[in-house]
Amino acid sequence: MIRFDNENNLFYLDTKTTSYVMGVFENKVLLHLYWGEKLLNPFNTSIISTMKRRPLSARDYGEYSTNDFPLEYSTFGSVDMRLPAFDAVYADGSRITRLVYADYTITNGKPALQGLPATYCEANDKVETLTIRLHDDLKNVDVYLSYTVFEDFNAITRSARIVNNGERLVLNTAMSATVDYFGMGDCEFLQLDGHWCRERNITRRNVVHGNQNVESRYGASSAIHNPFMAICSKGADERNGEVYGFNLVYSGNFTAGAELDPYNCLRTYIGINPFGFNYVLENKEEFQTPEAVLVYSSNGFGEMSRIYHKLYRTRLCRGKFRDADRFVLINNWEATYFDFNEEKLVAIAKKASQIGVDTMVLDDGWFGARNDDRAGLGDWYENPDRLPNGLNSLANKINDLGMHFGLWFEPEMVNPDSELYRKHPDWVLHTKGRESFETRYQLTLDLSRKDVCDYIIESVCSVLQKANIEYVKWDMNRYMTEVGSALLPNDRQGEVMHRYMLGLYYVLETITSRFPDVLFESCASGGGRFDPGMLYYMPQTWTSDDSDAEERLMIQYGTSIVYPYSSMGAHVSTCPNHQVGRTTPFKMRCNVAMPGQFGFELDLNKCSEKELEIAKQAVRDYRELQRVFHNGNCYRLRSPFETNLSAIEFISEDENTVVVCVDCKKATPNSPEEFIRLAGLDKTALYSLDGEIYGGDYLMNIGILFKNNSEHISNRYIFNKC
Ligand code: DGJ
Repeated sequence: MIRFDNENNLFYLDTKTTSYVMGVFENKVLLHLYWGEKLLNPFNTSIISTMKRRPLSARDYGEYSTNDFPLEYSTFGSVDMRLPAFDAVYADGSRITRLVYADYTITNGKPALQGLPATYCEANDKVETLTIRLHDDLKNVDVYLSYTVFEDFNAITRSARIVNNGERLVLNTAMSATVDYFGMGDCEFLQLDGHWCRERNITRRNVVHGNQNVESRYGASSAIHNPFMAICSKGADERNGEVYGFNLVYSGNFTAGAELDPYNCLRTYIGINPFGFNYVLENKEEFQTPEAVLVYSSNGFGEMSRIYHKLYRTRLCRGKFRDADRFVLINNWEATYFDFNEEKLVAIAKKASQIGVDTMVLDDGWFGARNDDRAGLGDWYENPDRLPNGLNSLANKINDLGMHFGLWFEPEMVNPDSELYRKHPDWVLHTKGRESFETRYQLTLDLSRKDVCDYIIESVCSVLQKANIEYVKWDMNRYMTEVGSALLPNDRQGEVMHRYMLGLYYVLETITSRFPDVLFESCASGGGRFDPGMLYYMPQTWTSDDSDAEERLMIQYGTSIVYPYSSMGAHVSTCPNHQVGRTTPFKMRCNVAMPGQFGFELDLNKCSEKELEIAKQAVRDYRELQRVFHNGNCYRLRSPFETNLSAIEFISEDENTVVVCVDCKKATPNSPEEFIRLAGLDKTALYSLDGEIYGGDYLMNIGILFKNNSEHISNRYIFNKC
């Protein structure tokens, strides 16, 4: 697990299949020496002597220069010219930090991160944490680097805590993790990017000399770039090649990138975006960075994803719903938008209950003076025009149908046309003297303020107490502009974005722990804040506002690069689809939504008898298979980004059930035959499908035949181990 080799000054961090090695050079410089496949023999430190080779580097250690070293946590201002892990400006105006190794501790388990979401461990997990203290003598600053090794999960988490024991400083950069590699001239960078309704496309590019990165400056992790990157060997695919995954447990502005120097040394980094950020630390104040989750796979992207999936499902998500079967929802948004009343909602719920749906969710429009999206956000009490009998009456009627009742909120926002804004115009993020520009007629509440956070907590909690509400959809529908806070002094305005996130996490921690029996789902115009930070508080996220089945194949596939299907809200909607106008077969819509957290987003009263029959069967199938989709291992067999087909395989935890979901983007007449080879099976075992018996080796080497035609563009194969 974690070990310090005294003789050679080396730290070894071992999981079951990986090693991570650091060394202390001349008792001072913390070097990053290795991360990759598990080393069975001691690390050969002679490599360090080859690092004294570059012309024009200032030499700060005899013949050596920190500019030429692979460093564990680099600093700005002196010899190292690359992008730093740490950068601060001190009271005397200087900007140099030189961190040297001080000491270390190794403890069992994993301490929580103060005020921030993070992975955790359970009693019997093989988990240890190494904390290394780095110290700047002149400025009296300590940086505590934390490494938690999840041995059985094959994952390492990292974060840094900066403690200022000297005079006031202003922190400009404090990365959660940086990893330097040598000999990385030939690798690729994979990112998940997009925008509203087209989240998490997979984009790959060659790493070139210089800096390449993904980042958010939107105030949320955003749909534009996900707080994730992977560095991989050229051509790495689902099963082959080396992949290094970096994911930030944070929901705000981030940066993740890789800088390749002229000698093909690669510095990778992930953390809070230094752009627009600075944080004042007075004497004795400290700063905790968010956590980065690092996963290495020598077997391509598939293995990396399965590691993230398992870790997030079981050691990031929390509470009753982590392990419980979640609800099958019907949400009224696409069925009615703002045009609803109690009668309509009950009619939708009634039909849904007849096909086995167990939860009716009332979306936007139930509160304040909200008759469209121009007013009411912030006023969390019933809209008497919409619900003259109140929420309680509606919840009771839904409960009488044997269903749970769920409710939508967008607590972080306010419409200028609201009681709340009229009373507290200074409660929004704003900058003195500047106009605050609206998105969707709304402004962002200033969650860096405790009074605003407490208002949100009390107003949401009082609604949750009022009626039997068992599910909450927590929405957030704009990015942040004119970021500033009325309460913070001028020199602390650079802290607002991060303090907003701390405020949000405080609100979420308080509300979710006051209502442990409520299932929470996050949403940000769909998947605009689909990140591990939100999953810590809410185990599922509405994946995208694009509910078209064909589009969803790609959105869900891209999302699965990091996040498990158990975290993806996925609903069947009407056709022509409201986002793209496309018509897809009802069965395909059910099949595509099924591996996620399944539900409906339409008025089933408008469906034909045939469609209702398919929907009813889909709910039955889902209940039977949800544990395979959500607790099992997922293998991506065909990518809808690359082919007309999407094929995903799920193997149950006990390995006895294998489900393969095959969907075709477009039907082709007289299409060629496609053999889809399965993966991850026991090659010596036999598997049955519809009365036929196949060998595991047959299925992995020959596969199943899929031939698409207009009747048959989506299929599900369920194999049972004999
Ligand atoms: C955006 C969400 O993504 C939708 O599902 C819906 O809840 C609307 N907001 C409501 O305003």
